[in-house]
Amino acid sequence: MEIISDIKAMQNRCLAARDSGQTISFVPTMGFLHEGHLSLLREGRKRGDLLVLSIFVNPTQFGQGEDLDLYPRDFERDEAMARECGVDLLFYPEAEAIYPPGYATYVAVEGPLTTTLEGVCRPTHFRGVTTVVTKLFTIVMPHIALFGRKDFQQLAVITRMTTDLNLPVEIVGMPIIREQDGLAMSSRNVYLSKDVRQQALVLNSTLRQAAEMAQNGESDVEKILTMAGSRLANEADLKIDYVKICNAQSLEEVDTINHESVMLLAVSVGKTRLIDNGNLIS
Ligand code: PAF
Repeated sequence: MEIISDIKAMQNRCLAARDSGQTISFVPTMGFLHEGHLSLLREGRKRGDLLVLSIFVNPTQFGQGEDLDLYPRDFERDEAMARECGVDLLFYPEAEAIYPPGYATYVAVEGPLTTTLEGVCRPTHFRGVTTVVTKLFTIVMPHIALFGRKDFQQLAVITRMTTDLNLPVEIVGMPIIREQDGLAMSSRNVYLSKDVRQQALVLNSTLRQAAEMAQNGESDVEKILTMAGSRLANEADLKIDYVKICNAQSLEEVDTINHESVMLLAVSVGKTRLIDNGNLIS
């Protein structure tokens, strides 16, 4: 596995791979890898000749007072896991290389896709994500890029951006990977104390109950949201940021459940935000 930090060197390496006819599959991450990331890498390994992983804790997607400085980092561990998964190229740039002095260009998807759900609590978040993903795409020039569905809204925003800007990259969404007890895998799970982690299991159990209601014929969104709200409110340390049922494409809220409905949840526990989602009718 090659580790490259320099942008020009990375571009040259990826251009050479493309010129020699290799298909590049790409998994962008902020590091502190877990099984969720590894599932993307394994799929990327199958789909591409050259598997590229980036590790970059992107400052522009963190709002003021968010956990940029505290965000968990362990490069040596990540490097070993990347080797294990057969990564060919690991891109590990410095923040000053991605955002040098005088940096002034941003890419933003406008409208409900970025202003609802996470966009309400984190108004500058998606602009940071789309900017860095665009930059990473121009550096890595991948044919395929893989993202987890745990960040459902992020995946929708990146898909929109890729379509709107005619970027020649296939965006692949991959299933949520859960711990044995059902908690969706996230680098931020390390922040959770034992007690709070136990309370956080309510996210998955609420999604499961909602899906069960929908599959048993309940189509009234109001009723499912009432059940979800009261389950989440039962946990003393969780503060609900949102519980919504939306159309999976537009992310607009719906009144009636159908095959395109997805339930999205976000809660805060102290400074830790947890998100989760699930389809209601599979
Ligand atoms: O999902 C993430 O880890 C990040 O938002 C991403 C896509 C790597 C951009 O920094």
